[in-house]
Amino acid sequence: MKVLLTGGAGFIGSHTCVELVSKDFDAVIVDNFSNSDPGVIERCEKITGRKIKYHDADVADKAAMRRIFAEEKFDAVIHFAGYKAVGESVAKPLMYYRNNLDTTLTLLEVMKEYGVDIFVFSSSATVYGDKNPVPFTEDMPTSTTNPYGTTKLFIEKILTDAAAADKDLSVVLLRYFNPIGAHESGLIGENPKGIPNNLMPYIAQVASGIRDKLHVFGNDFNTHDGTGVRDYIHVTDLAKGHVKALEYAADKTGCEIFNLGTGTGYSVLDIVNAFEKATGINIPYVIDGRRAGDIDESRADASKAERVLGWKAEKTLLDMCADTWNWQKNIK
Ligand code: UD1
Repeated sequence: MKVLLTGGAGFIGSHTCVELVSKDFDAVIVDNFSNSDPGVIERCEKITGRKIKYHDADVADKAAMRRIFAEEKFDAVIHFAGYKAVGESVAKPLMYYRNNLDTTLTLLEVMKEYGVDIFVFSSSATVYGDKNPVPFTEDMPTSTTNPYGTTKLFIEKILTDAAAADKDLSVVLLRYFNPIGAHESGLIGENPKGIPNNLMPYIAQVASGIRDKLHVFGNDFNTHDGTGVRDYIHVTDLAKGHVKALEYAADKTGCEIFNLGTGTGYSVLDIVNAFEKATGINIPYVIDGRRAGDIDESRADASKAERVLGWKAEKTLLDMCADTWNWQKNIK
């Protein structure tokens, strides 16, 4: 099966590319490298021992996408490309709506023109909003607290409507919890530009001396130690979930939603402790005030993915920390 990976040079896209290629899928990347670098693709080639084809193009550029679809003759699309920084989305909402919605609409239109009808989408647990009790199940009401999250929710709605109208279309919406870790080879991982917004990349930069200490955003949450609890999932487990989702999507039509998480929650301080244990490196931290929009706890009910896709996260928190460090320590 020939699969287009939009944003395939990004953190989750690159790990999914490796898993797909190792399972003999033919993966082709389209990326404009606005938040990634082409060297990632070479490193995916090193891991898999296969040549990986890519096109440097913007997914919202319809003429370019038509050319690529005409040349490649895809069977399926996994759509990772998109802006993803919560704070930036609050400051620049129109940029987020324009980019994240345009890319998806363009893809759907070009897929229709070229008869491609399998679509897997990178959604987020952010669509569970701040009102639902944990663990989150796929049928819970959705809401969002920032424009980034709203783009994910709008795209889910667009894809749901598109699948209802087009009986040939098969859509799978994957709601990711908190992806961390890196490939066990240490060759690919997360390398955010500027100050990291997310916890694990920040801890990794403290460990490597780029930042002097972690700022813990609040210790008055309703959790076992007062710091925010999240469902962290190893990016390789997440990537394997995409392979299962693709196989599932190829066999049916309609639109189906799956949580991709472990079902276990860890606090910020649990993560600090686990990172120290896995690496032997001390992570100094200070307790600061809460970050706007943060909730007490986010955790998946991951049973639907296990039941329907036969997928379950396997890696431990110590694996996630050790693999993050194995990658981070090589970043120049
Ligand atoms: C965030 C986004 C979410 C997005 C996800 C992508 C917000 C409100 N949510 O999730 O929409 O889908 O990233 O992975 O930004 N923390 C610190 N210090 C830090 C960074 C984080 O204490 O420097 C804490 C946070 O308060 C939270 C936990 O660590 O309790 C995890 O934060 P983060 O990694 O940013 O993920 P989320 O906020 O869960």
